[in-house]
Amino acid sequence: MGEDERRGPSTTSVHGGEPKVRDDRAVVQPVVLSSTYPFADTAELVEYMEGRHERPPEYGRYGNPTVAAVEAKLAALEGAEAALLMASGMAAITTTLFAMLRQGAHAILTEDVYRKTRVFAKDTLARFGVEVEIVASNCESIANAVRPNTRVIFTETPTNPYLRVVDLPAVVALARQRRIKTIVDATFATPINMQALRLGVDLVIHSTTKYLGGHNDILGGAVMGRRSLIDAIREQLGTLGGVADPFGAFLLARGIKTLALRVARQNESAAMLAAVLEQHRAVSRVWYPMLPSHPDHAIARRDLTGGGAVVSFELHGGLAAGTRLVDGVRIPKLAASLGGVETLIEQPALMSYYEMSPEDRAAIGIREGLVRLSVGIEDAEDLRADLVAALDRL
Ligand SMILES: Cc1ncc(COP(=O)(O)O)c(C=O)c1O
Repeated sequence: MGEDERRGPSTTSVHGGEPKVRDDRAVVQPVVLSSTYPFADTAELVEYMEGRHERPPEYGRYGNPTVAAVEAKLAALEGAEAALLMASGMAAITTTLFAMLRQGAHAILTEDVYRKTRVFAKDTLARFGVEVEIVASNCESIANAVRPNTRVIFTETPTNPYLRVVDLPAVVALARQRRIKTIVDATFATPINMQALRLGVDLVIHSTTKYLGGHNDILGGAVMGRRSLIDAIREQLGTLGGVADPFGAFLLARGIKTLALRVARQNESAAMLAAVLEQHRAVSRVWYPMLPSHPDHAIARRDLTGGGAVVSFELHGGLAAGTRLVDGVRIPKLAASLGGVETLIEQPALMSYYEMSPEDRAAIGIREGLVRLSVGIEDAEDLRADLVAALDRL
């Protein structure tokens, strides 16, 4: 293990992927706003095209120095050979799957992956002749779905909204025997709470919009893994075009510097609030991986170092009680997304699953009284007092 790999998560968040002294002596990587990168003369152009001259790519869709600096940091955080930053989490997911799959290939996705990932696989990939199978998030269901043409197993952990934790080492073991690539969307886990590549997956994806950016002010997505795989996805990105914007990349690098601090605080506050919620008379059930009552607690304790910011809970009073709670709290904002510094609260039935009937929601396990809280970095006692006061009024 090299010296850099032994460093702790905060040191890596601040210094990972960065030179000790930059050529321009700036302490931070500047924002490079250039769509094209001129050559000194034709001789330099020809040397570059023949791979004999190191310099930035010739055009912004093929790379950018600010984006490349964040990619080096992301690779350091995940212990990866290479990283690729894109315009959003969905750009990272769609570009990666397009790069890894061909007509006639079979892809297995687990059922509680992000809804738009499922929609992309079922609607778009299927239109291009990829056979998509959606299965329950356990090893047995995945193993039963494997076919001779299975190329990819795509899963997510912890999942939304019930924070189910997939047994990744077991999934990896079954995939490796059959030379199937494993991809995990570890947005909810963060590179701080889980090191997906060390658990053996081939590629790890994050919506950097969430914890990594951390301030609810940018969209982004990244994929990390072996250089050969990332190079193939980069090639695909050059065609599909969902590249990261340099200013967003600068904000992401800035956000990542406090990632370990923020996640440690969020882990601690969310665990405390989950325990408080579990004791409240208005709450019928709480899902948080670090609670002993969570169905995947043992796997979470083994593979995660913290439960993250998201706590989901169900109220006895159903949708109406959820609405009273969401409208009654003073600090959490009613909003989609998660992982940022602001505490956010929402009812999945009225946000991500609004257009479905209660019966259809029930069929996919979305309960009417469910509330999802993403705990920010405010003072935990203020959040506790606010939440309990609103629950007491139900
Ligand atoms: C687990 C997960 N993956 C992917 C995405 C998509 O990311 P983005 O919104 O950055 O495209 C989200 C967004 O909510 C998510 O929660």
